[in-house]
Amino acid sequence: MLSYLHAFHAGNFADVQKHSALALTATMMQSKKSGIAFMDTHAGSAVYDLGSERARKTGEADSGVQKLWAARDRLSSSDWQPVLSVLAGLNGKAAQLKLKRYPGSPAWFRHFLRDDDSLVTFELHPTEGERLADWASSPRIRVVRSDGLSGMLNQLPPRQPRLLVLVDPSYEVKSDYADVAATLQKAWQKCRHGVY
Ligand SMILES: C[S@@+](CC[C@H](N)C(=O)[O-])C[C@H]1O[C@@H](n2cnc3c(N)ncnc32)[C@H](O)[C@@H]1O
Repeated sequence: MLSYLHAFHAGNFADVQKHSALALTATMMQSKKSGIAFMDTHAGSAVYDLGSERARKTGEADSGVQKLWAARDRLSSSDWQPVLSVLAGLNGKAAQLKLKRYPGSPAWFRHFLRDDDSLVTFELHPTEGERLADWASSPRIRVVRSDGLSGMLNQLPPRQPRLLVLVDPSYEVKSDYADVAATLQKAWQKCRHGVY
């Protein structure tokens, strides 16, 4: 029985690092036109309310994305633009001072979806999976409510010539450490040009 809920941690420093790396990788890969299969093996929810009881209980976003947002005028590198644009797009004009909402990995991926790209998300937690399925409105986004590691392997090689996979377990189940390593080895055998 899974009990981890990412709502307690959304927008913390690790999310900022992970999602900035994801945005930078997707941007660099999209300098070429050919289609990309995106896969998100441990998706969580698509959007988190930073004012929710869960988020306020830990306050983790205060030392993560809220700090980044407060410093946004000083982030001169163009590498930050996709990150800031996703955050501004989700929060609209309400985002002058503090962000109210934070995108989970499926929403970051969706920002980068072009016509020839596709996104498969995997989520095992029943309520997270349900919320994700309600959110996914495009035929190019699939929500699979089963194990993300074996599910990702089953999808390889993808239809598109390129592949970007985010593997982000909560490590609630201790065998995840070994399973992730073994899965990545198998994934590379099935799709050597994938970016994992
Ligand atoms: C760290 S959170 C994901 C955060 C998300 N990737 C993001 O960046 O916004 C891990 C998620 O994996 C889910 N999960 C745990 N084991 C799983 C499995 N074997 N397959 C798919 N999802 C799993 C959990 O329910 C949880 O929602």
